Amino acid sequence: MTGLGKIAVLGAGNIGGTLAQRLAEADFAEELVLIDIVDGLPQGKGLDIAESAPILGFSTRVSGSVQLDALEGADLVVETAGLARKPGMSRSDLLSKNAEILRGHAEAVARRAPQAVCLVVTNPVDVMTYWFRHVSGLPSARVFGESGSLDTARFRTFVAQALGVAPRDVVGFVLGTHGDTMVPIPSLTSVNGVPLTGLLPEPELQAITERTRHGGAEIVNLLKAGSAYYAPTASQAELVRAVARNEHRLLPVTAALDGPYGLHDLYLGVPAQIGAGGVERIFEVTLRPEERRAFDASAAAVRADLDILKALPAAAG
Ligand code: LAC
Repeated sequence: MTGLGKIAVLGAGNIGGTLAQRLAEADFAEELVLIDIVDGLPQGKGLDIAESAPILGFSTRVSGSVQLDALEGADLVVETAGLARKPGMSRSDLLSKNAEILRGHAEAVARRAPQAVCLVVTNPVDVMTYWFRHVSGLPSARVFGESGSLDTARFRTFVAQALGVAPRDVVGFVLGTHGDTMVPIPSLTSVNGVPLTGLLPEPELQAITERTRHGGAEIVNLLKAGSAYYAPTASQAELVRAVARNEHRLLPVTAALDGPYGLHDLYLGVPAQIGAGGVERIFEVTLRPEERRAFDASAAAVRADLDILKALPAAAG
């Protein structure tokens, strides 16, 4: 079953390449184009993926290009381009460089694919999603970012390992920013409805929460060159599926907030309903006082990064 006409993946690094493979193999679109500025990289990865089609049996036509013109008519754009974090580098250090890269891309999307739903994964993702929306001028419902869905996958993995249960049976949310101030929400986490609180001793839960907060850095430190891409692209593919198949999934994403949670003019990780039009609805959940305090601190951290971004020369014009 094919859902979309065309998907464009911007950036053909570890994330872009692995994501293109996952999306092609799932047959979410008739056509998928991988775009990067490094000549040969998107064409090579695109051709390599295309050559796996006879064996795997998917129909998506995959190609690569170094031209932003290749965005033409895309129904869904995934922005993965930008620098990845190196050990010791914070997500915010990436801000200025990645804002520059995304500016060109967001302008090209506005020209070539104004109807597209856009999923942004470039870090720092809450700020970059805000920036992409701002530069592209697209409706905010059609621009959202991967944040909590990846962090939640890490949280669920660690909880499942601690309890010895199937990872897919652990459900819950990590909200707030995709950064050190992210907010795992134990009060909304369960093993298929059995509340987590009571299943795990508090210190163990605390340790899992801490590990989740630094889940991205844990992989960066292990790999030494580059950052995670298997779990991130699995999470991105889940979000693309929700759009391509109009699934109305309830997933944590960084979404435009203008009212919910008392926040305005900000992108932050919240539970959202994702379907063909992008963000269809934002769910306002009741948080415990300490979770709410952490959520507010998370909002303040994103706001501080946004203020830095707005003061950069790249923000002019
Ligand atoms: C991570 C990086 C990609 O969390 O932000 O793995």
